[in-house]
Amino acid sequence: MPAQVVVGTQFGDEGKGKIVDRLADRSDVVARFNGGANAGHTVVVGGERFAFRLLPSGAIRGRQVAIGNGVVVDPDQLLSEISLLEKRGIEVKLWLSDRAHVVLPYHKVLDGAERALKGRLSSGSTKRGIGPCYGDKVMRTGIRVGDLLDKSLLAEKIETYFPLKERLLKSYGLDVGTTKEELLEWCLNSGSRLSRYVVDTSLLLNKALDQGKNVLLEGAQGTHLDIDHGLYPYGTSSNPTAGGACTGTGIPPTKIDQVIGVVKAYTSRVGEGPFPTEIHDDLADWIREKGGEYGTVTRRPRRCGWLDLVMVKYSVRVNGVSSLAMTKMDVLGGLRKVKVCIAYEFQGDRLEEFPSNPRILAECRPILEELPGWEDLPPAKWIETAKAGYESIPKNARSYIEYVEEYTGVPVSIVSLGADREATIERT
Ligand code: GDP
Ligand code: IMO
Ligand code: MG
Repeated sequence: MPAQVVVGTQFGDEGKGKIVDRLADRSDVVARFNGGANAGHTVVVGGERFAFRLLPSGAIRGRQVAIGNGVVVDPDQLLSEISLLEKRGIEVKLWLSDRAHVVLPYHKVLDGAERALKGRLSSGSTKRGIGPCYGDKVMRTGIRVGDLLDKSLLAEKIETYFPLKERLLKSYGLDVGTTKEELLEWCLNSGSRLSRYVVDTSLLLNKALDQGKNVLLEGAQGTHLDIDHGLYPYGTSSNPTAGGACTGTGIPPTKIDQVIGVVKAYTSRVGEGPFPTEIHDDLADWIREKGGEYGTVTRRPRRCGWLDLVMVKYSVRVNGVSSLAMTKMDVLGGLRKVKVCIAYEFQGDRLEEFPSNPRILAECRPILEELPGWEDLPPAKWIETAKAGYESIPKNARSYIEYVEEYTGVPVSIVSLGADREATIERT
């Protein structure tokens, strides 16, 4: 069977976790391909809430899950997620890539220091060590999960790399926080606790596909945070886009046949950078409170704005999105009018495409189309609506969805009307 990929089409937090949980009911394996503990994916099942940073959201259903080579792994975070799920009676069947890189304690110290030093060019990182860890990967000074199980290679790496970090941090007026010996000990200990999960994930994922199994690939973050296709330098350090699903798992493009782009009915952003459709009045607070728009990892209030279709159209292109999953339609319920951005105005010109230059984007004024709003319903009513099917969604909400389909040229195959697993409609 070919694999399916789930990606975020905005700045992250689109509701990927919820959609992956939903699609996991017919998947045999669910694999994460990028990012690290900067992600926060929330799934709600019958009022019970599960939050993941590293484990794929398919874990709740007891599926085989995998963490691909493209992920950066914080061992303590991963082990704590596994133990939390096991305490809730869910067995975690995990394949952890031996090629995935390890987030080391000094990566977090560097992340905090560099975030402060970058000033206005900082993306406002989650301080989980993501940038410095991917930085080491690219500089070829990283430690991989497999290294944790090879004492002599590990010791040689730490002996060589540790002084480099020590010098760098010293230049910032900071201390590494550990000694070389303590770091080696921490790595070996992490390795022994993780060893039972460590495998060649690409081999097993490809075997599963060859055996006709369904493999679902879960992206973290969103297209506009992508290191290549996102709003540089205001994004993250990995590839949350569909191509990242191949490099981040070792599954070739020829084995992927569907890309599901998750789009929130409005836009949110945690962190810094230009955001053309951002709302600056009380309405932003209303959306934030109603939508619970606070960072899952850092609890920072998320900036909120109207749905930016220029951004989404760009994401459809760079990911090859085959269908969209539209989330949080319930949150906009109760507004008399809703707006969507269909183009930008820049220095008197109309821009139809998302610019690469953040300075230009900061000067873009959104050209907004106003659409009629729909009623507000309590969560239980939205669940009833979901059970009754697409035609029972308020008419203006359907028109909004159909407007997005028309603009992007892609069908909206999933509509989410609440955080709960049940508040979901799949259109066939
Ligand atoms: P992710 O990072 O893309 O997985 O998204 P997050 O989990 O960080 O943020 C999405 C938040 O919205 C979570 O708290 C979800 O439980 C919640 N959520 C997902 N879909 C819906 C929806 O359709 N309606 C509402 N009200 N909440 C939703
Ligand atoms: P999920 O998977 C929203 C943002 C941070 C910051 C920038 C870089 O839950 O959608 P980093 O720590 O990666 O170096 O931070 O990216 N960011 C996210 N924003 N959702 C996420 O993940 C994010 N992961 C990183 O706020 O602006
Ligand atoms: Mg999130």
